[in-house]
Amino acid sequence: MKFLIFFISVFLFADKLIVPIPENAPYNKEKAKLGKYLFFDTLLSRDKTVSCASCHNPKFGWADKRAVSIGVYGRKGFIQSPTVLNARFNFVQMWDGSCKNLKTQINLPIHNTFEMDMTNKLVEKRLNNSKFYKKEFQKIYHTKYITFDMVKDAIAEFEKALYTPNCKFDLYLKGKAKLTKEEKKGYMLFKVYGCIICHNGVNIGGNSFQKIGVIHPIKDCIGDRYSLTHNPADKCVYKVPTLRNIALTAPYFHDASAKTLLDAVEKMGYYNLGINIPIKDAKSIVKFLKTLTGKKPKFLEDSM
Ligand code: HEC
Ligand code: HEC
Repeated sequence: MKFLIFFISVFLFADKLIVPIPENAPYNKEKAKLGKYLFFDTLLSRDKTVSCASCHNPKFGWADKRAVSIGVYGRKGFIQSPTVLNARFNFVQMWDGSCKNLKTQINLPIHNTFEMDMTNKLVEKRLNNSKFYKKEFQKIYHTKYITFDMVKDAIAEFEKALYTPNCKFDLYLKGKAKLTKEEKKGYMLFKVYGCIICHNGVNIGGNSFQKIGVIHPIKDCIGDRYSLTHNPADKCVYKVPTLRNIALTAPYFHDASAKTLLDAVEKMGYYNLGINIPIKDAKSIVKFLKTLTGKKPKFLEDSM
């Protein structure tokens, strides 16, 4: 009975469960400009072949189309790279939620031997040897010596600028656009099937830890909460990924096990809801998910 009341209330109040992205979210423009240079700069990796953008590629929704990303010296990682678009709205960062904010997150790829394999000192040495960066950091941080902390600060501000307001669905929520019949049906099914229980809030995800394989368990979950906490209840538990811009960021899941959005929807139905979603319904849900592709971040329009 309690379960039923929960479902009915989710359905009735579900319109409030997804929140539009604010049109103006605060960030420091000057720092973001500098952060953008750093985000695209291979100087930040040991063999100078990899930048943040190698694995968070603007061409693929600021994520990676490869199943696992490739770091310095061609070293293979072990998990799929998520998008950095709208990462500022995630309650924590990383699949396992091991980072509290964007600034501390940057330590991980920089130090990871499979990604950029750098030390703070080597980052500082390279940037302090660059006339360009010396001048740019001087302007913003009023300093003669560039520190690693400033580097993280600038990159994090750039990431904060990467938010994508006014997707068709947000405009619909604000009464400024109409969905097609098919998209509306997809949204209704997204609520009725219960997808919205885990994918909600401003990022339509990114605000809770949930299990993959709630009904039909999955074996061998790599990089899950369990690998961090060693609590058996955390096996196969991940930060729920955002569904914003999801049409741009194939393949899907931490292990890239779904190649298409349709495949991801079907698998979510099976593993987490115990339902074989009829193909017609799954296709409608995909139509709805495609309305979540936002506008290019305004900062990029202004600064490119
Ligand atoms: C070699 C590939 C690679 C490089 C280089 C890389 N990343 Fe990542 N990034 C990943 C992967 C893989 C993950 C997911 C790791 C995990 O959660 O275990 C990730 C996760 C993230 C996240 C968390 C997003 C979320 O939704 O939880 C952010 C933010 C991020 N990276 C920013 C950066 C920045 C900034 C840089 C450059 C300083 C960078 N990355 C360099 C592959 C890479
Ligand atoms: C019990 C919570 C829960 C429910 C219910 C749920 N999801 Fe998910 N969803 C997750 C988790 C956790 C992941 C990450 C799984 C992984 O990477 O292995 C995920 C991943 C996804 C992804 C891939 C995202 C990416 O970037 O890789 C899509 C698409 C998705 N879900 C759509 C749906 C749809 C559509 C439904 C309803 C049919 C649904 N989800 C129901 C928790 C849930």
